[in-house]
Amino acid sequence: MRLTRENIIEILKDNSKNDRLFLLADKVRHDSVGDAVHLRGLIEFSNICKRQCKYCGLRSENSDIDRYRLSPSDIIKYADNAAKMGYKTIVLQSGEDEYYSSDKICEIIRGIKKLDVALTLSIGEKSFDEYKAFKKEGADRYLIRIETTDRELYKLMHPNMDIDNRFRCLEDIKTLGYEVGTGCLVGLPNQTIESLADDILYFKNIEADMVGIGPFIPHPQTPLKDCSHGNFELSLKVMALTRLLLPDINIPATTAMETLNPNGRILALQSGANVVMPNVTAPEYRAKYEIYPNKICITENPEKCRNCIGSKIMSIGRTISSDYGKSKHFKINS
Ligand code: 5AD
Ligand code: FES
Repeated sequence: MRLTRENIIEILKDNSKNDRLFLLADKVRHDSVGDAVHLRGLIEFSNICKRQCKYCGLRSENSDIDRYRLSPSDIIKYADNAAKMGYKTIVLQSGEDEYYSSDKICEIIRGIKKLDVALTLSIGEKSFDEYKAFKKEGADRYLIRIETTDRELYKLMHPNMDIDNRFRCLEDIKTLGYEVGTGCLVGLPNQTIESLADDILYFKNIEADMVGIGPFIPHPQTPLKDCSHGNFELSLKVMALTRLLLPDINIPATTAMETLNPNGRILALQSGANVVMPNVTAPEYRAKYEIYPNKICITENPEKCRNCIGSKIMSIGRTISSDYGKSKHFKINS
């Protein structure tokens, strides 16, 4: 669908037609990627991070957090368990933790790629050569949210980081033939509707293969602790509009959405989303990976989450995909 910046801004500002927007995004999702929901097994393998993102509970300046890192063999063990449960994609996510050298990450990739699963990495900003090495070992997809395309806001939120390096990472990932995943936060302090429209247009501009969108949730041990959280409906609208502009990509119903609304992931699946990323690590790590407070499922085990989300998906007449769930948007060398 062709929507101008002005159209997008108008839709984001006008709440009188939200239900129509969600229905339309649901129809576009149905017609372009079908009813099957892709499940991704998420392994949050280290909460140690060298960055200071103002919104994130893992920021290095937060000393009131119990830090952990999983060994390569434990990570592979969780992936193996997830594969045995039927997951066809594993997502490895962590803070930017330099303990995991390129060689260690390559070792983990090799172990996981023996399991007949697709592999997504979400481990932050790396050099072209590192991305290249990970791809060579068999990583299929890379996830790195731009977070916001507003240069001023990006700078405020990310001390000592450079938005141009973030753009460079996304370009490198594309050049190297990964499926490209990005996304943004909705409701950061001082974020404008206009900048959210620019975020959506950016996803289209780089022809992203997957886009994750979630509301900002203030974390008590961060400088943004007294800010208000992002609006759930606005997050859904940004997601729905992304579906209209990029009909055949993969869009997760994000965990942050469920944190703000007890039925958030299902509502997202009915407003354009076609992916869910249940956690497949043990409960002891889930609470510690506290990007934001009140994360869901922190006392559950992998089997419980798989069954829970599986029955929720089927209760709305959708099915669970049994393939790797490659983005239909993805074309090599496109
Ligand atoms: N609220 C919501 N989402 C957050 N993220 C980080 N901190 C928060 C927060 N306080 C998101 C970022 C990151 C992803 C892994 O989690 O967008 O890319
Ligand atoms: Fe974890 Fe429902 S998905 S308990």
